[in-house]
Amino acid sequence: MPEPTPTKRDAFGSSLGAFAATLGSAVGLGNIWKFPYLTGSNGGAAFVLTYLLAVALAALPVMVVEHAIGRHLRVDAVQAYARIVPRQRFWAAIGWAGLASSLLIMAFYTDVAGWVLAYVFKSLGAFVSGAPLTPATFQALVGGTWEPVLWQLAVLTITVGVVAAGVSGGIEKVTKTLMPLLLLLLLACDVRALTLPGASAGVAYLFTPDLSKLSSAVLLSALGLAFFKLSLGMGTMTTYGSYLPDDTRLVPNATRVALADTLVSLLAGLAIFPAVFALGDTPAGGPGLLFVTIPRVFAQMPGGELFTALFFVLAAVATLGAMVSLMEVPVAWLIRSARLRRPTAALLTALFMAVLGIPATLSQGPALSHLRVLGRDLFSLFDFVSSNVLLPLGGLAVTVVGGWLVPRAVLRDEMSKGHGEPAWYDAGVHVLVRYVTPVLILLILLHSLGLLGG
Ligand code: PFF
Repeated sequence: MPEPTPTKRDAFGSSLGAFAATLGSAVGLGNIWKFPYLTGSNGGAAFVLTYLLAVALAALPVMVVEHAIGRHLRVDAVQAYARIVPRQRFWAAIGWAGLASSLLIMAFYTDVAGWVLAYVFKSLGAFVSGAPLTPATFQALVGGTWEPVLWQLAVLTITVGVVAAGVSGGIEKVTKTLMPLLLLLLLACDVRALTLPGASAGVAYLFTPDLSKLSSAVLLSALGLAFFKLSLGMGTMTTYGSYLPDDTRLVPNATRVALADTLVSLLAGLAIFPAVFALGDTPAGGPGLLFVTIPRVFAQMPGGELFTALFFVLAAVATLGAMVSLMEVPVAWLIRSARLRRPTAALLTALFMAVLGIPATLSQGPALSHLRVLGRDLFSLFDFVSSNVLLPLGGLAVTVVGGWLVPRAVLRDEMSKGHGEPAWYDAGVHVLVRYVTPVLILLILLHSLGLLGG
């Protein structure tokens, strides 16, 4: 059946806007929540080093391929993979899996983002009243019924507002404003943390690799993080690729996004670890690092509550660009396939996200904590299935499509569009995507499914 001619699609207005939106998708809880706690529990600098390798060898080439496929076809992810290999429409499964991942990730992501938003207000309240935030504050929030759900709905509503306003008028505009703000807030937190007496131990922890800490488990969790971090393997970057202007240079753009995103992770680490060490805490804080350790650490220094508030504003800003990109995958699909108007598509998507997200949130408190599926509560189940199964599988499928099935000339043309890039860009991406990345991803996948030791 011939595809209907699409009506004019919204797109990013400039390469700078495209960079901001892509970076906005990459930067999120991954930098501020997952990166520090994984670094903390996997041996500091040795993990950071491995992560950098994973970004360069696996994540970066996949981002270029996703952008190339998206821009080549200028359609949503389901349609892009249905069409990219002639007569093999079943690759659309990558897009379908992407839709499922976006709903599952949003289910737990909006839960944590809701806690972040709550903490903006709670820390401001603590600043005004002088009553410090304690671990009990966090327990009460997470274990509550109405409170976390209402924060989650607030977060979803804000995300709908941005997505409904359009690709250029909403996503691009908001991320272009928020990314510099995020950097400023991060630097303010860094200056505060780094000027504490004893901060250098935290800096050393982040930058002096102890190579004896390296293990296959560390290597593989760094790879998994690289994919989650750069929003890969689930159609997000394919969808964003379909909005990239023709003059955006794919390899330099993806490289800048990966570098800037890594910088944000390191700056977040520099705000957290020096403060943790200076105040005699331990770095391995697990997921609670953000909500329990940060307020406790900052509360011990002058003006601490204000910095805690600043830190959570920063985290909230970071989550927005990521959530917007997660919502955009189903929204782009609904706009094309069901011919819905963008605001209607955004609302409908949010409704589905709430249907999955509310039980995930309630699974952290008495209401649903007893419910176990495959031995996990819903929150952990959604995180596990999306991050450890669907993303690596999606990433693997993208490398098969991009490295083996799509004619190399298609990717080369996208990479050099209007510029004539150095030949080694094409050669490098080709070799990585065809041989190196799939093997690495296969390793993550087998590892996370427990089929490989470590
Ligand atoms: N990259 C985001 C983060 O690190 O927080 C999370 C994310 C966003 C994952 C979008 C996947 C995605 F499609």
